[in-house]
Amino acid sequence: MNIIEHPRPLRAQTRQWRRNQKSIALVPTMGHLHDGHLALVEHAKTQADHVIVSIFVNPLQFDNATDLKSYPSSIASDLQQLSSLGVDAIFKPTVDLLYPLGLELAPKIHIPLLGDEFCGAHRPRHFDGVATIVSKLFNLIEPDIAVFGRKDYQQLLIIQRLVSELNFNIQIKALDTVRTGDGLALSSRNAHLSTEERELACMLYATLKDVAEQTEQHQLTDNLPALLDQAITRLSQASFKVEYLDLRDANDLQAIQAGTTQAIVLAAVQLGKVRLIDNILFKLADRT
Ligand code: PAF
Repeated sequence: MNIIEHPRPLRAQTRQWRRNQKSIALVPTMGHLHDGHLALVEHAKTQADHVIVSIFVNPLQFDNATDLKSYPSSIASDLQQLSSLGVDAIFKPTVDLLYPLGLELAPKIHIPLLGDEFCGAHRPRHFDGVATIVSKLFNLIEPDIAVFGRKDYQQLLIIQRLVSELNFNIQIKALDTVRTGDGLALSSRNAHLSTEERELACMLYATLKDVAEQTEQHQLTDNLPALLDQAITRLSQASFKVEYLDLRDANDLQAIQAGTTQAIVLAAVQLGKVRLIDNILFKLADRT
């Protein structure tokens, strides 16, 4: 497994693969890998001749210095797991290499509207940071395919918009969220949950599931505000701080319309010091 830190050898490697007519899949990560990441890598392997995993904790997407500092890291075990999966190359740059002028002077990409609500409203400039780093990785690696998880659903839509609006010739593949037995979505941040918080954390998924099931079964779009209020109250009473919990059209995260057929219930909560996000996608019958 080729571990590359500098953009120059990275380009040399990808050029060589391309000269040999080989396709490339990219799995962008911030490290501290869990089974969700490994599922992305496994999928990437089935889609292309060569797989590159990037490991970079991107400071531009953190709105809070403490959060950045405490982001979990386990590089030795990450590399070991990726090597046993047969990944071809790891791109593991330093901040200086990717942002040579510093973060303030780095040009940033903003995706209007899609990036402004939900996580975008609660973490100012977060999605500018994501869109910028993902564009840089796409330009440096020029993969044929890039694989992302649906847990970060708003991020996924933003990346799809980025690809179509900035004309990247890259196919975006999305994979379902990987969960523990009790439903908690895998996330590197779960490492910071205390034992009691970890036990409580699965309530987020259970609550979203309830909202999705009730909406699906009863086509409850009229009663939606009450249903969402109940869900928020239930979580708040169990000591979650709810940043948002809403039900939207899954195509663009806008309000449900009569013609909406693919819906998403999505939420972000704070549990102790840990921020958790999750979502469930489900079908709605066409009500036009
Ligand atoms: O989802 C993540 O881990 C990050 O936001 C990403 C896509 C690797 C960009 O830093």
